[in-house]
Amino acid sequence: MDVLEQLAELKVRALGELADIDDARELESWRVCYLGKKSRLTAVLRNLGELPLSEKKSVGAGANRLRVELESNLEQKKRALREAKLASSVQKEGLDISLPGYPFPVGRLHPVTQTIHKINDIFTSMGFQVVEGPEVEWDYYNFEALNIPEEHPARDTMATLWIDYEKDSNQRQMLLRTHTSPMQIRFMEKVRPPLRIVVPGKVYRYEATDATHIPMFHQIEGLAVDEGITMADLKGTLYEFSRRFFGKDRKVRFRCDYFPFVEPGVEMAIECAVCKGEGCRLCGSSGWIEILGAGMVHPEVLRRVGIDPEVYTGFAFGMGIERIPMLRYGIDDIRLFYSSDLRFLRQF
Ligand code: DAH
Repeated sequence: MDVLEQLAELKVRALGELADIDDARELESWRVCYLGKKSRLTAVLRNLGELPLSEKKSVGAGANRLRVELESNLEQKKRALREAKLASSVQKEGLDISLPGYPFPVGRLHPVTQTIHKINDIFTSMGFQVVEGPEVEWDYYNFEALNIPEEHPARDTMATLWIDYEKDSNQRQMLLRTHTSPMQIRFMEKVRPPLRIVVPGKVYRYEATDATHIPMFHQIEGLAVDEGITMADLKGTLYEFSRRFFGKDRKVRFRCDYFPFVEPGVEMAIECAVCKGEGCRLCGSSGWIEILGAGMVHPEVLRRVGIDPEVYTGFAFGMGIERIPMLRYGIDDIRLFYSSDLRFLRQF
């Protein structure tokens, strides 16, 4: 029998056996037997080179044709087995595969939370630790310990929501924190330098609501205390933050500012994204957008928590969170963040 006759016989046998197969395991042994590495067909194809030229062509073509045919029959059989299995489970279990599936709602984080996460990531990569503090605070931490005593005019800049609760034995009064700075004090009372923290969280002010004011918003505070920290560390850290958050081409500007708990104090502004410094409506024609307050921790603040300002120095900063996505996406009303309108929230 020559090779072509052998192949013809092989085909009859293979297709005959295939017709009787009715489960996946048998099908796999069939495949190994007729199409596998050790199959007769593979051997024929492998040994083509040894045939005389006259036979090589016809045997090669015939063997390849047979391979394609067996493969396509195999696929058909696989499909048929799958369908039969499904049909039997529909019968057995009453499974109706035409029913729509369960909806799978995909949630997302609030744009403010997303912004906080992004800022946290940048600072943790620079060795800062993320900590959180209480939203209900004593006036001592919110004001006194930050060099803002009772009659200090800085109190007027932060309209405070006081809590109607008796003073404690130290004559401390409760309030909703007006900024995240009190966590500077709480953390330094417990942890000795070197320390580096960022504190994201909610803050509250007793203010009438409008497009740029709401009684609750978010801030993130930063604090680094160690031996030999200088203004250069403050600027370097905040430059790096701006580079990573706003991109390397945004210019950054520092100017003097006053905050009772730092000395010297600065404000940091970034170049306006809309007009690139030319001046437009968004930046109030100045070309700059202020994003945070910062400074070198006041020696008195360090002394109050028992850290020697002759040995240690530090820097601190605080920024409002909502402003950042507002500037970035051109959102012109802060109330949108908290009106729970999914049409707005789904865009982030
Ligand atoms: N707590 C200040 C505010 O809410 C912002 C601030 C300014 C925080 C300067 C700081 C700082 O840590 O050093 O207006």
